[in-house]
Amino acid sequence: MARLVIVSNRIMLPRAHGERERAGGMAVALRDALRARGGLWFGWSGETADATSTAAKIAQSGRIQFATIDLGRADHDQYYNRFSNGTLWPLLHYRLGLLEFRQESLDGYLRVNEAFSHALRPLLRPDDLVWVHDYHLIPLAASLRKHGAANRIGLFLHTSFPPPALFTALPRYEVLADALTAYDVVGLQTEDDRANLSSVMTTHYRCGTTARGELDLPTRRVLLCAMPVGIDAAAMAEMAETASAGSEQRRLVDSLVGRQLILGVDRLDYSKGLPQRFEAYERLLSGFAEHRSRVTFMQIAPVSRGEVRQYRELRRDLDRLAGRINGRFAEFDWVPVRYLNRSFSRQTLAGFYRHARVGLVTPLRDGMNLVAKEYVAAQNAGDPGVLVLSRFAGAAHELTDALLVNPFDVDAMGEAIHRALTMSLAERQARWRAMMRPITTNTAVAWQETFLKLLQNAAAATAA
Ligand code: UDP
Ligand code: G6P
Repeated sequence: MARLVIVSNRIMLPRAHGERERAGGMAVALRDALRARGGLWFGWSGETADATSTAAKIAQSGRIQFATIDLGRADHDQYYNRFSNGTLWPLLHYRLGLLEFRQESLDGYLRVNEAFSHALRPLLRPDDLVWVHDYHLIPLAASLRKHGAANRIGLFLHTSFPPPALFTALPRYEVLADALTAYDVVGLQTEDDRANLSSVMTTHYRCGTTARGELDLPTRRVLLCAMPVGIDAAAMAEMAETASAGSEQRRLVDSLVGRQLILGVDRLDYSKGLPQRFEAYERLLSGFAEHRSRVTFMQIAPVSRGEVRQYRELRRDLDRLAGRINGRFAEFDWVPVRYLNRSFSRQTLAGFYRHARVGLVTPLRDGMNLVAKEYVAAQNAGDPGVLVLSRFAGAAHELTDALLVNPFDVDAMGEAIHRALTMSLAERQARWRAMMRPITTNTAVAWQETFLKLLQNAAAATAA
């Protein structure tokens, strides 16, 4: 079997005891997939230095070999803070109003991709399957091919992908379109994302697609396919059961003194719809007074990309909103919102998920949202909670038995939370059973196998 080489900006290095985990769905999914097959995981060390490394540091942990490079401070700023997270992230999440473009950031992005390729190239064997992940590294395949790599190279984009009218608002979008043609396979989360990318590419290159969904470019074919990323559902269920007997879980349950728990778990990101969610909870308390003092909303929101302006502004807005709701409704013995800017281990989260009567996953736009799947997998079959899920999360394509909401409609979201809190056991169980079907079928391992089979069978790569 060919060796698997995974490349992503963020990787999950083995942790020193007691170190906090970096939250993020992509790295979680990759770790679950790599544990099953083994291979090389190449990426950013998470450290900055005076200059970007020219060679990778290697470490081994179980069946996974890690190769990492540090990023120079200026490169990190242009590539990660500015172009990846200040330009591409808002664009891919349909937020043109938040997009900032600077030519020097695009240059930094291309330079760091070149540095990745320079450090990775000597580690590659001819028959390795190279699987690149996410928007940070779109130009990597072109860079590797320029340096002679003839391997099969695939890309999976973990985010959503916008329609052409939005995507082509990006100045110099053709640089990314060209870069995409160096891949053999490009995977996206949903059929909508695939169709949007396909339409950008067929319009730009005036080309057609084959019956299999390949872009039929003059010099090569690139397969575009939709395959939703999954979780290790059995492991999550087991973790949740174990955690529910643990000390953190006991502390949580004691602190709630019988109140029902409404739970949100998201990186502090504007794509997650947190202000709208807070307002929906406020509408619940104002419109359905019977829930006052009887529920607690706990929002776990670890700070993410804190050096990026749009993220700092969001943090200020949420501090204000949480304060307003607590100021308006709190009693001397009840705080309506518990708002935590810290991360928790997935073990601890698993127990919290299981205890929550309502899981609130209401992004304005999200590629998949693994928290939605984890919440469902962690439930107790005898007394499952209810998932309130945004129609605009990739997960909504599979979890059609969640209470689906439009996150821009805060009144309707407030009503949906009320419905979730008062739902009968029979309905909760029926919905939960239906949602468990796709979650236990489309696991992280199945996702990885499907992608790699397509990559393995892709037409022999043509060096550009
Ligand atoms: N997560 C975590 N600790 C936290 C918050 C989140 O381990 O305090 C994990 C969570 O369990 C999930 C991932 O981070 O696996 C978030 O993935 P998701 O797809 O929901 O969103 P993303 O952050 O990738 O946009
Ligand atoms: C999303 C992106 C990932 C990213 C993660 C955490 O899941 O798709 O590529 O790793 O968010 O963000 P961060 O900027 O901390 O890596």
